[in-house]
Amino acid sequence: MTRTAPAADGATLSHPVSRCPHLARLTADFDAHDPHLSPDLALRVHRAIRTTTPVAHSRAHGGTWIVSRYHDVRAVLADHETFSSASGVFFPRAPGTPRFAPLEYDPPEQTRFRTAMKPPFLLSRVRDLHGALADLVRAHLTPMAERGHGDLVAELAVPLPLAVVGLAVGFTERAQHSIRELTSNTWARMPKDDGPGGFWPAFAALFDSEIRRARERSGDDYLSTLVRSPFDGRPVRDEELHVMLVAYAIAGHETSMNTLAHLLWQLGSRPGLQSALRRDPSLVPAAVEEALRLWTPVDHGTRVTTRPVVLGDTEIPAGARVVLLTGAANRDPEVFPDPDTFRLDRGVNRHLTFGHGIHFCLGAHLARAEFAQVLRELHRHPVFTLTDEPTRYFENGRHICLDRLPVRFASGGEG
Ligand code: HEM
Repeated sequence: MTRTAPAADGATLSHPVSRCPHLARLTADFDAHDPHLSPDLALRVHRAIRTTTPVAHSRAHGGTWIVSRYHDVRAVLADHETFSSASGVFFPRAPGTPRFAPLEYDPPEQTRFRTAMKPPFLLSRVRDLHGALADLVRAHLTPMAERGHGDLVAELAVPLPLAVVGLAVGFTERAQHSIRELTSNTWARMPKDDGPGGFWPAFAALFDSEIRRARERSGDDYLSTLVRSPFDGRPVRDEELHVMLVAYAIAGHETSMNTLAHLLWQLGSRPGLQSALRRDPSLVPAAVEEALRLWTPVDHGTRVTTRPVVLGDTEIPAGARVVLLTGAANRDPEVFPDPDTFRLDRGVNRHLTFGHGIHFCLGAHLARAEFAQVLRELHRHPVFTLTDEPTRYFENGRHICLDRLPVRFASGGEG
């Protein structure tokens, strides 16, 4: 794991990566899993690839094609027939790793899984959860604010998304506690070539117990309903439930955790921004969208071509692994003027953070509601400031994490 000092505004890099010996090598042969690739260096590498070779070939992992411009990444995501997800979007991966649903399937299987997985994340359902969501945010935030200090990563950004997914899906508290540990282990081991034995059995055991409990209880939570619902005209199989539940656990937790941490990092570094949002709470959604864009929590995804295709002026052969640098696309100056700056005046923010096309994130409504609720709840407490800088690091070449966010809340009238 490579760690670097952070770039507080996403633009002013404290690490002298321009002199970094790995910049040229990684620009020529991009590899998201290179141990020298830090989040700050990734920004430089992304920019170099996007401006010099927007559709680049890399020799890493047997040959991959790197796509970095906004319009190219969006075009690939829009064309699921040419750019298939069925060979897995997490790459490289240990042989035997199950495909996560619906993310790593093409239609018609993707459609079947997506239909079964959609109910807890519909906008109407997320609206129904509003009161419970507010209670959860309050329960995590109040003790820290009353104490006057705390770690916003350990006490909020890590546990809250797990609790929210638990609420929406119906995971038990026991499962929520296990998921963080299991996902870290999965990310650490999946890109290695030693089979899924290191991470999958523990996940499968956890889900077996969740499925058993859901079948035993007569609850009306989503999971209790899912285990009893027909799937494709027959009873749903345990292995199908496994690949759906693991997707909720993996897709819904890591991503939200890291977005929330980056948003809070930005607020803690800029008390003036907190004041602006308090003065005008209608800016909260813009702040959420800008955090999603600027610190794209899923830095890249992949597809495999089903036919030869021309992208830009480059021909990509059939059967090629295409790596989509979503983080680079989200800072493409052709679409986002002043791309490295956190701005509240972007209007419609067309970032690709939740993907695009048939695989567009199922949890987007829930994640947005969660982040906005955190900001609104913070407004009930004094302004907070960072007392020490966090370290940002790639957990798995894909997710950018913060190790901690120690903060102090202003006392009395200071806020
Ligand atoms: C900041 C938070 C989140 C981000 C940035 C995010 C990002 C993404 C992205 C980029 C995709 C598409 C991947 C691709 O096309 O290869 C995706 C799909 C998905 N996300 Fe999210 N996600 C977030 C939160 C959630 C939550 C809270 C859940 C639910 C618990 C969730 C569940 C899913 C599922 C099930 C898919 C697969 C959809 C399909 O393939 O049809 N995500 N997400």
